[in-house]
Amino acid sequence: MAAKLLKGADVAKEIREELKAEVEAMKAKYGVVPGLVTILVGENPASQSYVRAKQKTAHELGFYSVQDNQPADLSEDKLLALIDKYNKDPKIDGILVQLPLPKGVDENKILLSIDPGKDVDAFHPVNVGKLMIGKPDYLPCTPAGIQELLVRSGAPIEGAEVVVVGRSNIVGKPIAMMLMQKGKGANATVTVCHTRTKDVKFHTKRADILIVAAGVTEYVTGDMIKPGAVVIDVGVNEVGKTADGKRILKGDVAFEAASEVASAITPVPGGVGPMTITMLMKNTVRACKVHNN
Ligand code: GUN
Repeated sequence: MAAKLLKGADVAKEIREELKAEVEAMKAKYGVVPGLVTILVGENPASQSYVRAKQKTAHELGFYSVQDNQPADLSEDKLLALIDKYNKDPKIDGILVQLPLPKGVDENKILLSIDPGKDVDAFHPVNVGKLMIGKPDYLPCTPAGIQELLVRSGAPIEGAEVVVVGRSNIVGKPIAMMLMQKGKGANATVTVCHTRTKDVKFHTKRADILIVAAGVTEYVTGDMIKPGAVVIDVGVNEVGKTADGKRILKGDVAFEAASEVASAITPVPGGVGPMTITMLMKNTVRACKVHNN
């Protein structure tokens, strides 16, 4: 294997140490700690696992953290009322509604009901719009984690050909926007590929930085990668379970083959995932500072 491993887990640990120190300082100086509520509707096992990881990290950093589990048949009105309660709760700085929501609940309506100042996912249209004009209050967590990982690992972004595979609102669109903005850790030339792109390989082969959020297990194969490229694999696909019931995960990139071609690559798990959670914590610390200023 030639490629350097971009271990998001290690970088995330470093950032969490910085955040922990900030939380302790806030507590000593102002007597407050960041408050985060994660709302989970239903019992989707993957969502349960993500939410557990978010709560665990919040707890480790000394946050006031609330896990609010709701039944799958919770009505839209009840969910709106719950969000309204947390919007008004001064102990809560950040509200995260885990997606996807059960069928019958209008996701857009729910995201719109979150106070944009507590929207630590940065999914509210106000925050999406601010990102679009280059003046974000909060950055969406997965794209922010990817950018931070690229910057901290010294990948040259300025002027680079970046190709993003996937056009979701959570990853593809915002990371494309962030890396093409003016400024540090950006100024790239960005191409976005999606399910209707005629020749995906034509584009991926040109990428100095290839970001894959296709949602398809091992979609990108070694022959689709330019020699020396930096590869960021956002995919988390469960391909089975171990004997003791742990999830076996694979990314959207065929890791072994890609490692022979790329200069650097994120592993799955332990790559982008821990960075995403850490950026959520960073947003919540920021929200707490804003709310107490
Ligand atoms: N589901 C998958 N990723 C995310 C995320 O980053 N935030 C929320 N709220 N739900 C998700």
